[in-house]
Amino acid sequence: MKIVFASNNKNKIQEIQQLLPETIQLMSLEDIGCFEEIPETAATIEGNAILKADYVTQKYGYDCFADDTGLEVTALNGEPGVYSARYAGEQRSAEDNMNKLLTELSTKNNRQAQFKTVITLNYKGEQHLFTGIAKGSITANKSGDKGFGYDPIFQPNGYNETFAELPIETKNRISHRGIAVQKLISFFKNDN
Ligand code: IMP
Repeated sequence: MKIVFASNNKNKIQEIQQLLPETIQLMSLEDIGCFEEIPETAATIEGNAILKADYVTQKYGYDCFADDTGLEVTALNGEPGVYSARYAGEQRSAEDNMNKLLTELSTKNNRQAQFKTVITLNYKGEQHLFTGIAKGSITANKSGDKGFGYDPIFQPNGYNETFAELPIETKNRISHRGIAVQKLISFFKNDN
């Protein structure tokens, strides 16, 4: 059975493919001839994951899953949330985004935050949502050079290192995305 993962990130696709039952073959957007930018105009993380999955299912007719992720900071009422990638502007710079967040938090005591990933799956005519959350706090300074995005300033609860300092295997096991993907894999394992 063929299922589209609404992404062109070959590493992500390969990683998930290896965890899925052999009966499921993942296809990228490129594989189905989808080269246009899929709109991500919803006001929530869930909304964007749904928009992306529905776009592929409605326009190309495939079963599909799509993910969307954001960093929600308590003292900022959940910001940057759905705007995490472009928090400091359309240049989508991780450095600029982190600097902006550290500045915004410089006057706040509460540094709690969580990453949230939502995976929306359109499968056999039904829609399923899988959510993964990683709770932690925003550090005062950047540390570490692994990972991407806000990793150098996010310290998961129970660890003394940031996501950018932890081994990638550890991050994948405890991260928002890792947890959401595990829920997706369990769904397919139980379905087949
Ligand atoms: P996306 O939905 O996976 O594209 O994520 C949106 C934005 O959230 C990214 O551009 C990053 O700024 C941030 N982000 C998502 N996942 C992570 C992560 O695992 N670590 C750090 N930042 C992340």
